Amino acid sequence: MPISENTREQMREIAARYPSARSALLPMLHLAQSEEDEITTDGINACAEVLDITPAEVTAVATFYTMYKREKVGKHHIGVCINTMCGLLGGDAVWDAVVEATNGSNNATTPDGEFFLERIECQAACTHAPVMTVDWEFMDDVTPSSAVEVLDKLRRGEQVQSTRGPVIRDFEATEHTLAFPDDGLADAPSVDDKMLAGLRIAKEQGMQGGNA
Ligand code: FES
Repeated sequence: MPISENTREQMREIAARYPSARSALLPMLHLAQSEEDEITTDGINACAEVLDITPAEVTAVATFYTMYKREKVGKHHIGVCINTMCGLLGGDAVWDAVVEATNGSNNATTPDGEFFLERIECQAACTHAPVMTVDWEFMDDVTPSSAVEVLDKLRRGEQVQSTRGPVIRDFEATEHTLAFPDDGLADAPSVDDKMLAGLRIAKEQGMQGGNA
C-alpha cells in the first residue's frame, strides 16, 4: 500500500528539524512503520524520495536496526529481555510462558496476528528484572503468570497499564510516538521517578527537543 500523502508531509516535517535532512531517517522509518505495521518497499521509497537519497541507502539502515520490522508486527509488540540479569531472575521462564500462551516464536507474529514476540537485549532496566515490554512500554518485575495475564487482557481488549504509568496503546501508536516524541506520555504518573530524572532536569534547564 503506498504511503499516504499525509505521512509524506509528516516525513517532510521531520526532515526539516535537522540541519542535515538525512539525519531524520530513523524517526521517518518509525513513522513509515506506524502506517504500515512494518517497513515495506513503499515506506523505503517514500523515505528515499523525501531525503533525496537512494532506496539502497534507506534499506541499509532499515535492515541494520532490529526495531524496524520487515514483516507485519500485529497489534502488539512483546519483548522479553533474556540478557544476563533478567535471565538470572526468571526471564527465560517468562519467555517460555509467553511462547506457550501465544503459540508463538521468536521474531515472528503469533498465529492469531495479535502479537509479535521478540527476545530482546538489555533494556537498561536491570533493577526491575525480569522485564517484559509491551509496545516498548515497561512491565517491570514480571513473572510468568503476570506476563500471561497481560497478554490475556490485551487479547480481550481490556486496559493494561505499564508499571511505569502509561496505558498500553498499540504498536502503531508507539511507532508514531517514536517519530513525534512529544506525546505528553512522559507526564503520566510514574512509579519510577528515577527513570525520568534526566527529563526533569532538561525541563528545569529549558532544554527543548528537535520538534519543540
Ligand atoms: S538484563 Fe534485562 S533489563 Fe538489563
